[in-house]
Amino acid sequence: MAEAAIQIEDVSKRYLLGEHHGAHGTLSDAFGGSVRRLLGREPAHLPEIWSLRDVSFEVETGQALGVIGRNGAGKSTLLKLVTHITEPTSGVVRTRGRVGSLLEVGTGFHPELTGRENVYLNGAILGMRRSEVAQRFDEIAEFAGPQVRRFLETPVKRYSSGMYLRLAFAVAAHLDADIMAVDEVLAVGDAEFQRKCLGKMSSFEREGRTIVFVSHDLSAVAKLCPTAVWLDAGRIRGYGPSREVVDDYVAAGITPTAEREFSDRPDAPVAARSAAVRSAAGNAVASLARDEPFTLELRFVVRERVADLDFAVFMENLRGVRVLDEAWSETAVLERGAPGEYVARISVPPVLVVGDYVVGFWVGSAYDTLIYEEEALRLRLEGDAKGRRNRIVQLGLAWEVERVAEPRPSARRAEPLPRP
Ligand SMILES: Nc1ncnc2c1ncn2[C@@H]1O[C@H](COP(=O)(O)OP(=O)(O)O)[C@@H](O)[C@H]1O
Ligand SMILES: [Mg+2]
Repeated sequence: MAEAAIQIEDVSKRYLLGEHHGAHGTLSDAFGGSVRRLLGREPAHLPEIWSLRDVSFEVETGQALGVIGRNGAGKSTLLKLVTHITEPTSGVVRTRGRVGSLLEVGTGFHPELTGRENVYLNGAILGMRRSEVAQRFDEIAEFAGPQVRRFLETPVKRYSSGMYLRLAFAVAAHLDADIMAVDEVLAVGDAEFQRKCLGKMSSFEREGRTIVFVSHDLSAVAKLCPTAVWLDAGRIRGYGPSREVVDDYVAAGITPTAEREFSDRPDAPVAARSAAVRSAAGNAVASLARDEPFTLELRFVVRERVADLDFAVFMENLRGVRVLDEAWSETAVLERGAPGEYVARISVPPVLVVGDYVVGFWVGSAYDTLIYEEEALRLRLEGDAKGRRNRIVQLGLAWEVERVAEPRPSARRAEPLPRP
């Protein structure tokens, strides 16, 4: 049997909310308001979260392991342990070889350094010599693409998340790491780049590099990774051949959520108030018949003028396929972004198939993401799948069928062939 590249033994990880957790914006965004409130009241007893609980598994050298699970399940925490960015509260994490990482946007790169400097920094972290990195620099820049090449001398904090990701992936793919930890990269970036990343990842596998791949794109996980682990609230809920784990995960479904209120962030220029799924009658509903139309509703407040304010709502099925993604800017041409309270509604015709969906939304400007809620609501469409489980939309298109000829009598009489 091959040697294990990664061994995780009885690992648990606890976070104390409000504890200092580094410079990365994501958590302070998510918890901003509530943490501050909690801190104001009771600084001594910080609430704790067990991101991982009693997790054990091994990944053999040269294997690709997929990690799936809902938001907050502990996937990113697991990768941060594998890459030794953070330490377990209890248990042991062992890795063999050099660990490269491509974590969520917001980690891995130093925001103040330029693209070029970050490439060298990452090489140094992997123990490569400057000349070794220099040899591969052109290849990295080539892979990252023309937009990034133009901004190699710019601090990466000025990069869009797409550019950041391109460079991060290029770096991770071309430097010498024995273990690659890849977190949700496919969530950002266009289809073309995603295809390129997946292709590159299958080549890592051929080169015998070990991969741990977190993605909500379940078909990508099933394609790339023979084995997968399913995390649920910090615990392992499934482990085994990817396709089986993915099927179990999809079958487990979700608990529908019809309406959500968000805690206010008084210091933010734009803050979300609530999101809801509504029936045609206007009631908040979390499950409805697939042949009924419904409305997605978003309320938010704009405190400071936002140039080119935009928002988008999207729906994903449980296989991670985005079945709907509609931005305001696609239909609104008027000037957008004056301060005030907004209610935005979009009607969805009854075209989606039976199943569970996750609804998320984004609010931002041409330059910035101001609010990003990946999993705001959960919706169930009920009814008869009519045995066609692979389709994504059910448009109910009518066939036009015409009998264009009757059987020709002569053709019928032609049997058997007349003898000469
Ligand atoms: N640095 C941190 N400080 C406090 N809580 C954290 C921190 N990192 C993760 N968590 C919490 O741990 C849980 C698991 O998070 P995460 O590993 O990011 O999940 P996933 O990547 O599956 O969405 C969540 O409840 C999250 O809020
Ligand atoms: Mg994550």
